[in-house]
Amino acid sequence: MKGLILSGGKGTRLYPLTFTSAKQLIPVANKPVLFRVIESIRDAGITDIGIVVGDTAEEIKRAVGRGGRWGVNITYIPQDAPLGLAHAVKISEDFLGDDRFVMFLGDNVIQGGISPLIAQFAESDYNSQIVLTRVEQPEQYGVAVLDDNNRIVKLIEKPKEPPSDLALVGIYMFDANIFKAVNAIKPSWRGELEITDAIQWLVENEYNVYPYVHRGWWIDTGRPGEMLEANSLVLEELTPKIEGYVDRDSEVDSRVTVEKGAEIINSVVRGPAIIGKDTRLVNAYVGPFTSISHHCLLENAEISRSIVLENSQIRNINRRIEDSLIGRNVVLHRSPIRPRAYKFVLGDHSHVGLLGEGGE
Ligand code: DAU
Repeated sequence: MKGLILSGGKGTRLYPLTFTSAKQLIPVANKPVLFRVIESIRDAGITDIGIVVGDTAEEIKRAVGRGGRWGVNITYIPQDAPLGLAHAVKISEDFLGDDRFVMFLGDNVIQGGISPLIAQFAESDYNSQIVLTRVEQPEQYGVAVLDDNNRIVKLIEKPKEPPSDLALVGIYMFDANIFKAVNAIKPSWRGELEITDAIQWLVENEYNVYPYVHRGWWIDTGRPGEMLEANSLVLEELTPKIEGYVDRDSEVDSRVTVEKGAEIINSVVRGPAIIGKDTRLVNAYVGPFTSISHHCLLENAEISRSIVLENSQIRNINRRIEDSLIGRNVVLHRSPIRPRAYKFVLGDHSHVGLLGEGGE
């Protein structure tokens, strides 16, 4: 069995964070979402993995390489434009050949335990297996209608009036019959070749498509709020480890990971949280559900339920930062400019000056 990861597209909903970088490389709990996807596929025993790449190909290649670090072989498949998930399958036919394969969207994060399901598909006689889960806003996803016998009646991409709350999770398993389907369908109203339409074609043509209903959590990390949610959920599952230095004046919870070379001086860290490699906390408070990446500095600052990417600095801020996504190389420090409300989605290389108490 082979793996196919979709990592093209533009990530417009995460602008400005993704102006300069691929959304699949934004980390949750200090590990890029794409790396988590590669690990899930590897854990199912698959070593041949293709990654479909678009505008951000070079950055993805630099970060992932040839896969040696995970013991897998990576093949890059360039897609000229994001013409749809089924289009991505179409251009991957040479790589996939006649093998059964799992297709994973490179921006999806799912609670563990999916790897055995993928491995089982390799031995099954299904032509396809899809993963469904109940969601609150089904109109944002592909939606499935099942009958009383758990058979698929219909699949619709982002319906305005959803006929069910079962969304298609970004993990799909196929045999080579999917190529007949992707060649038979036409682009949707949004101009994309939809994988949902291709699976609907398989159902209509009496191929055996099995709907597996996933009970754990799953997040499509398209928007900042979803990144923070995924970060919180993954942090809760992390096994904590203290590899850095914590001084005697600091208080660090049991559910905190401190990576190598990190220094925690006169600070408080409440878990679940992670402090990245070579990051320094000085007179700082880091609250639950926060990931601080590597080579950051937090000095006289408080932050909770946030993600801070590498090489950023937060200094002398006298209000707590919450629910924020802070890019790479950002410098955030006190300055005398209004307004007073703090809520951030900051792009890479941003500089922000903040008002101090009493306007000083
Ligand atoms: O996340 C699950 C949803 O993913 C499903 O419920 C939908 O049925 C499915 O169509 C898809 O919807 P999205 O609109 O969220 O897909 P998005 O455009 O965000 O693309 C998902 C990933 O695939 C993303 O990592 C970028 C990549 N991609 C996307 C397109 C359109 C490609 O590599 N090539 C493409 O042409």
